[in-house]
Amino acid sequence: MQQILVTGGAGYIGSHTCIELIEAGFQPVVVDNFSNSCAEAVRRVEQLTQAKVPVYQIDIRDRAALDDVLQRHPVQACIHFAGLKAVGESVAKPLDYYDNNVGGSISLLQALAQAGCKTLVFSSSATVYGDPESVPISENAPAGRVTNPYGRTKWMIEEILRDLHAADNAWKIGILRYFNPVGAHPSGQIGEDPRGIPNNLMPYIAQTAIGRREKLHVFGGDYPTRDGTGVRDFIHVVDLAKGHIRTLQYLFEQATGEVVTLNLGTGQGTTVLELVHAFERASGRPIPYEIVARRPGDVAVCYADPSRAEQVLGWRAEHDIDAMCRDTWRWQSQNPEGYPDHK
Ligand code: NAD
Ligand code: UFG
Repeated sequence: MQQILVTGGAGYIGSHTCIELIEAGFQPVVVDNFSNSCAEAVRRVEQLTQAKVPVYQIDIRDRAALDDVLQRHPVQACIHFAGLKAVGESVAKPLDYYDNNVGGSISLLQALAQAGCKTLVFSSSATVYGDPESVPISENAPAGRVTNPYGRTKWMIEEILRDLHAADNAWKIGILRYFNPVGAHPSGQIGEDPRGIPNNLMPYIAQTAIGRREKLHVFGGDYPTRDGTGVRDFIHVVDLAKGHIRTLQYLFEQATGEVVTLNLGTGQGTTVLELVHAFERASGRPIPYEIVARRPGDVAVCYADPSRAEQVLGWRAEHDIDAMCRDTWRWQSQNPEGYPDHK
């Protein structure tokens, strides 16, 4: 069975991708320092799939520890999720973000190169498009004009990957620019479990529905959109996870190395208030909200042109907003405080 190194595999998107890897016949090998996750997520992946998942608590900046894992596991590819992702925190602590995300990626790439593994899928973000000139956003849209250190780490890592392939075209690299991942596994056993007060909309809504938050603050009601609130392209995390498997399979099929850059989104824009109302329908609970000032740095409208991923991979997102809300609510209501060991 082909082994795949999954950095950040205990995290939100990583844990869902481990399930899809196993279902597609791969063996994930997880490395995670649990800075934003816990071992219970991987235990639940094992329960759901009836598979054993080797998991190593290491930091990807620790080269010696990575080399050790790669010696034990001759992996065919790596899916690289590990990183810090809070935009506001990155503004306050830029060095932590450059060290962890950029430094961690360099350490990982060096370890992979030494082990002879040159197939990689990287978690980038729609944030690299900055404030888009037009929507839907295709991969050819101008990118790199990023407004915060988190987003800049994503862009820098993309550039590093392009340089790496230019220097050694044996590398097969998939750069996946995610739009707004939401939802949870339909079992309700794994899902998004942010530490502290959620930064992102969907977990904030879900915690409001369950009673952990009093009300949602809607950041801005005066955007030039259908109802004045921001528009985003929400994508179900299971669809996103399947996009990674297809990318991996695509890269394995190629005779030569390449860098393929793909948007993973649905192509559908949904406003903040539309998501609130969909969640009310899915949960049967009211979501109290108040419209407050815009959040600095937010763009009005952001949604993908996902056609390249469909052409290249034969992949497209299948779940609609109602399914995203239903699955988030199942996870939130079955795990009101998140994972038991994630403090
Ligand atoms: P997450 O925080 O749930 O997962 C990231 C995982 O990486 C965590 O388990 C964390 O403990 C681990 N990690 C962080 N630094 C590490 C290090 N130095 N060594 C080892 N492990 C480390 O986040 P997620 O939502 O699953 O995101 C996964 C990736 O996708 C991240 O790179 C993120 O930037 C990117 N991304 C996420 C979103 C989103 O909205 N969730 C959008 C675009 C891109
Ligand atoms: N929002 C609220 N209230 C909240 C949280 C968010 O009104 O409590 C609004 C935001 O203003 C925005 C929308 O909900 O209009 C979505 O906000 P999120 O924070 O959920 O997501 P963003 O689109 O701001 O950012 C996400 C990820 C980033 C990634 C970016 C790519 O968090 O990592 O998508 O577009 F870079």
